[in-house]
Amino acid sequence: MYDGDIASVLISERQIKDKVSELAKQVDDDHPQSGDLLLVGVLKGAVMFMTDFARALPHPAQLEFMAVSSYGSSTSSSGVVRILKDLDRDIAGKNVVVVEDIIDSGLTLSWLLKNLASRNPASLEVCTLLRKPDAVQVDVPVRYVGFDIPNEFVVGYGLDYAERYRDLPYIGTLDPKVYTSGA
Ligand code: PRP
Ligand code: MN
Ligand code: MG
Repeated sequence: MYDGDIASVLISERQIKDKVSELAKQVDDDHPQSGDLLLVGVLKGAVMFMTDFARALPHPAQLEFMAVSSYGSSTSSSGVVRILKDLDRDIAGKNVVVVEDIIDSGLTLSWLLKNLASRNPASLEVCTLLRKPDAVQVDVPVRYVGFDIPNEFVVGYGLDYAERYRDLPYIGTLDPKVYTSGA
């Protein structure tokens, strides 16, 4: 699949699976209270993580999705975010966990958290599979982080480059020839 486009496997399928179980256990341990957790997955990148994470949780959770898009250049976030698909339900009084695939600049999430907080959930936390170093420059309170990764272009397990590679079962670094060839 995608022959030659992937320079290296950064996080294997096995490592992802183990980390998803570990994160699910942590989140479950921290939420002994009654009532289902409400997971909010951020489309499209978080879709693989969201479905695996929900199935790894030992207690029931409900699944909601939002789709957002940054205005401006497609390669860097501008911090101005537009809602493409909003939640279907009111989250007031719910224990909400935002599920993200990656926090890069942190701008998407920082905007999203303010937006969700204004809807008065009982609690609002973030679980992200990946985080890049630049994310720490924006103050985004993230309770659960799977892997801190170097500042390289990564794809797979939901993460895309120009909408491709989301279907890879692992996370890999993209060979620079893919984005420099102008194909
Ligand atoms: C990616 C990724 C995060 C966001 C992180 O989504 O899935 O949602 O960027 O970037 P930031 O921390 O710099 O804001 P993208 O906007 O590419 O949409 P997608 O999930 O549909 O691929
Ligand atoms: Mn995304
Ligand atoms: Mg993307």
